[in-house]
Formats: sequence, structure tokens, C-alpha cells
Amino acid sequence: MPGLFITLEGADGAGKTTQGALLAQAFRALQYPVLETREPGGTPVGEAARRVLLDPSLTGMAPMAEVFLYAAARAQLIREVILPALAAGTVVICDRFTDSTLAYQGYGRGLDMDRLQSINHWATEGLAPDLTLLLDIDSDEGLSRARRKGADRMEMETAAFHQKVRHGFLELAAKETSRIRVIPAGRDIFEVHRQVINAVREKVPELVCSQEG
Ligand SMILES: Nc1ncnc2c1ncn2[C@@H]1O[C@H](COP(=O)(O)OP(=O)(O)O)[C@@H](O)[C@H]1O
Ligand SMILES: [Mg+2]
Repeated sequence: MPGLFITLEGADGAGKTTQGALLAQAFRALQYPVLETREPGGTPVGEAARRVLLDPSLTGMAPMAEVFLYAAARAQLIREVILPALAAGTVVICDRFTDSTLAYQGYGRGLDMDRLQSINHWATEGLAPDLTLLLDIDSDEGLSRARRKGADRMEMETAAFHQKVRHGFLELAAKETSRIRVIPAGRDIFEVHRQVINAVREKVPELVCSQEG
């Protein structure tokens, strides 16, 4: 039985972690095997890269160094976690994936898109998500939600940067309409969950909303 690979994308504070947990619960309620993971991270190597990437004291990081640290975490996650889980028939729900590289390092920092695509392809061994849920939120609202837990290195970027990232995610969604579903994420948690479930029902029609939303 092949697994199902779902990624959650969007700004910090959009609700990816919250919605990923609710979605996982909805699958578990139907006895599907589910694995929740995140980028950068999800493996010991990846979590080590994450600490470097999000460390607010590391202010001088070169943009390409950032790209390769994310790619290193992704390559490890693919090998160690995602490919084996999918081969075992698991539903894999990943908080951020390749679209974040294109939105943040491509649209946000202005790095060459073709190069980023090829680095992504290399790191993922060519694996693309079956479905990507883009949680779209006003940049200021996302930031104010995220800042309740304290700003990290990426969250310290300017408002203009975050607006470019948001626009970038939406352009990616417009280019890949069959893979990426845009979910307005400014509403209350259960309403967003309802829309997430609606989108995932295209792949798993029997899915119902989690009661704990
Ligand atoms: N729809 C929502 N409405 C209001 N607050 C929310 C909503 N979704 C998430 N939050 C809160 O906003 C903060 C960021 O949510 P989180 O799921 O961690 O976002 P992300 O993982 O995208 O950064 C958390 O404190 C969370 O409880
Ligand atoms: Mg999160």
C-alpha cells in the first residue's frame, strides 16, 4: 500500500503546527498510520541544522549557506524518515518542505529559482508531495501570532521580506494548482481545520473533521 505525502506550508504563525496535529488526529481516527514531522528537523542531523538556522545570534549567515543547511536537513529527512515511512504505507504530514525554500530563499531573498529547484530535487531524490496545504495569512497577523512564542532568526526579518514570501507562496500555488491548495488561515482554528479536511478529502474521501478542533 503506498503512503500519502502531505506538506503544510505558509508563514510562521499561519497555523501549520496546529493544523498538522488536527489533521493527524483525523487520520488516526480512521486507523491510518500517521507520521508527523517537520523541516528543518525531524532527525538528529536535521534538528542540529535547525538550531543553527534559527539561532538569532548567527546574524551573518550567507544566503547560500542557509540554502545548503536547509537542503542538508531535507536530504537527511527524506532518507531517514519520509521514504521509509511512505514505503510502509504511512501518511506523512510534514510541516514545511520544498516550497518554503522557493518562497523564502527564492522570492524572499532573491536567489536563482532554477538553482533552488535543482537543489530541492537533489535533496528530495525527486520526491514531491501528493498534496500541499498552503495556509495563507496576512503577514502582520502571522507574525503577531508567531511572536507570542518569541522571535527566531527568520522571524526577525523585515515586514517587506515577509510580504515577498507570502506573495511567493501564492505564486507557487497558482503555478501548481493540482498539488497546492490555498487555505485562508486567518479564521478560527476549527474553521481552518474544516477547510483542510475538505482539501484532503480529494485524496481520502472518508476523512472527517477531528472533534478536538
Ligand atoms: N486559526 C487560528 N486563530 C488564532 N490563533 C491561532 C490559529 N491557529 C494557530 N493559532 C495560534 O497561533 C500560534 C502559531 O500557530 P502555529 O500552529 O504554531 O503556527 P506555525 O506552525 O505555522 O508557525 C500558536 O500560538 C497557535 O495556538
Ligand atoms: Mg510551527
